[in-house]
Amino acid sequence: MNPPGTENIYLPKVAILDRVADDIPEVKTFYWRFEDPAAQAQFKQFRPGQFAQISVFGVGEFPASLPPSPTEEETFFTIRQVGSCTSAFHRLKPRDKFAVRGPYGNGFPMKDYEGRNLTFVAGGIGLIPLRSCIVFALKHRERYGRIQVFYGAKTPGELMYQPDLRAWEKSGGIECHFTVDRATDGWKGHVGVVGGLFKKPGVNMPVENTTAFVCGPPIMFRFVIKDLLALGFHERNIVSTQERYMKCGVGKCGHCCIGVSYICVDGPVFTYEQIKKLGEDI
Ligand SMILES: Cc1cc2nc3c(=O)[nH]c(=O)nc-3n(C[C@H](O)[C@H](O)[C@H](O)COP(=O)(O)OP(=O)(O)OC[C@H]3O[C@@H](n4cnc5c(N)ncnc54)[C@H](O)[C@@H]3O)c2cc1C
Ligand code: FES
Repeated sequence: MNPPGTENIYLPKVAILDRVADDIPEVKTFYWRFEDPAAQAQFKQFRPGQFAQISVFGVGEFPASLPPSPTEEETFFTIRQVGSCTSAFHRLKPRDKFAVRGPYGNGFPMKDYEGRNLTFVAGGIGLIPLRSCIVFALKHRERYGRIQVFYGAKTPGELMYQPDLRAWEKSGGIECHFTVDRATDGWKGHVGVVGGLFKKPGVNMPVENTTAFVCGPPIMFRFVIKDLLALGFHERNIVSTQERYMKCGVGKCGHCCIGVSYICVDGPVFTYEQIKKLGEDI
């Protein structure tokens, strides 16, 4: 092992795939661990909202959020197949090896939110980075005020992490509100955009002393921000993660820069107040 401070920051550590679970179409969850138990113990100190760089040997490297809470035993990624790296990752089988660098990025400052209400608003696979915070907050339920989850997908079959959604509903610790754009047979819940849930009869959304976490596709993000600002949320009390093409993940290559900000080290978590100052049309 290298002396502290002399490690090659670009050298990923070898990981072993334990099992794969289907989630929604094109999206699977990959349960894995590092080959070296010391690397596993070090990685497990990640914070909700951080990310890692995944290497598929002979194909390439790509960034992915960390959906588990650090309070959970297992480490896993949830990956949508979109191109060469993610498709190669989807082809891996249990016991195959790949490699991981990280954790990287700032993450959500969960300590700063203690004593506050937490409102999570997710669209589609935007639930991936928020899952970590939700599970973390539920584990430390006494530290936070009201916790609400508003989650929307195109169809009921595209609502992610269904076992988690059911567990959160049953927990009694989280107020859950789900919606879909298009109902299919058997769906008895709300139909419409996720922001439509805020004014649903019986919802009563706190604004005072509340932090809103928003993750989802750009169109959903824009509309939800508008809704939250109209409800009276201050821009600094709305937080989100920003996705950009990344290479190094550690503030060296400049691929992720927007203005003077490096999304990989200054983010990926930003308040909406900061996102506006990044100066990019979102
Ligand atoms: C901080 C961060 C966290 C992320 N977390 C996750 C995660 O948890 N799970 C997950 O599935 N993905 C996540 N992504 C997105 C993921 O990194 C990309 O989907 C991946 O890099 C695509 O690589 P590829 O080689 O498969 O696709 P490529 O071959 O590079 O691209 C194929 C197609 O996909 C499009 N594409 C590439 N990247 C993205 C993107 N970010 N969003 C939408 N379309 C894209 C390209 O424009 C192209 O059309 C994250 C990205 C960032 C920056
Ligand atoms: S990805 Fe290289 S500087 Fe951010």
